[in-house]
Amino acid sequence: MADSADHPIDFTRTPHPAPVSDTIRAQAIADPGFGKVFTDHMVTIEWDEDHGWHGATLGPRQPLSLDPACAVLHYAQEIFEGLKAYRLADGAMGLFRPHENARRFNASADRLAMPNLPEQTFVEAIRQLVLVDSGWFPPVQGGSLYIRPFMIATEAFLGVRPAKQYKFLVILSAAGNYFKSGAPAVSIWVSQDYTRAAPGGTGAAKCGGNYAASLVPHANAVARGMDQVCFLDAAEHRWVEELGGMNLFFVFDDGSLVTPPLTGTILPGITRDSLLTIAGEEGLTVREERYAFDQWRADAQSGLLTEAFACGTAAVVTPIGKVASHDGEFTVGSGGPGQTTQRLRDKLVSIQRGTTEDRHGWVMRLD
Ligand SMILES: Cc1ncc(COP(=O)(O)O)c(C=O)c1O
Repeated sequence: MADSADHPIDFTRTPHPAPVSDTIRAQAIADPGFGKVFTDHMVTIEWDEDHGWHGATLGPRQPLSLDPACAVLHYAQEIFEGLKAYRLADGAMGLFRPHENARRFNASADRLAMPNLPEQTFVEAIRQLVLVDSGWFPPVQGGSLYIRPFMIATEAFLGVRPAKQYKFLVILSAAGNYFKSGAPAVSIWVSQDYTRAAPGGTGAAKCGGNYAASLVPHANAVARGMDQVCFLDAAEHRWVEELGGMNLFFVFDDGSLVTPPLTGTILPGITRDSLLTIAGEEGLTVREERYAFDQWRADAQSGLLTEAFACGTAAVVTPIGKVASHDGEFTVGSGGPGQTTQRLRDKLVSIQRGTTEDRHGWVMRLD
């Protein structure tokens, strides 16, 4: 049955016949790192032109069988999302603004010529999967279940046109802290050789191709001893855009903030959007305006810029310490977490963990 708002899709549930034993699972989630420890189950839903979305299953996590000619393997028709299930203060699990991920998923689908998935189906698939695999929630400080919904073009056809068959999947991964060191601040290499996204390109979409293209610049940053790469705009190589997987904020000595505007070349982060609201409520002024790399250096050196931080689902809010490029390096503020960064991080985390009032209805409890 095709899905619609009136006819919510039904999931066929097939429990894993041989789930991982309690002992092995406990070992795996004791120190899960990021993106390596996967749970027992997954969701799959098929799409084709005749049936729309159909065949929804919540079953054992297992390898896919794909025709070698299927479109995703050749033309990268693929999109994904990333969000977390958190443990709330009262012990229940919660999702943070999952409908925003559903909306962004459909915006990415539009850009990649893929079918839209009803928001309710996206969220319900996640809800059911997280509940079924809740035993994988890591019992560690800052632990979460990282949720990875994605869609691939499965039609076996080598012509370059939108495919006529797709598969939507959701998998889960037990997650500790994203940054291995749990470092108080990250160091940034500003790439003047590579760009991430050009006007009219796919920068605002969460498609695999964007991330494939960021691997070499990221590796260059790491080779120089830095944690992350920062991209500048593709037209002038001047304006600061974002990191490989995080948005950016700058904090000035008058207490105001700047974040690059959503002009189509950066990902509209849900953390970014949440922080815009939280900062406003905290009485802080945030300007969504372009910020030049030269200005960043000058402001850091003059002391006008007191803090900078990166934000995203995986990294939450992470201060930026050292910044380097071919032109040399500089440090932002004290090189560690600043007051405003810490205040915004604490506020966001307290909403996500249910220890403060959720006045926007951002948290969806999973009971
Ligand atoms: C390129 C990029 N920018 C920013 C973000 C932050 O987005 P969000 O806050 O929704 O996780 C992500 C992570 O999804 C990303 O991949």
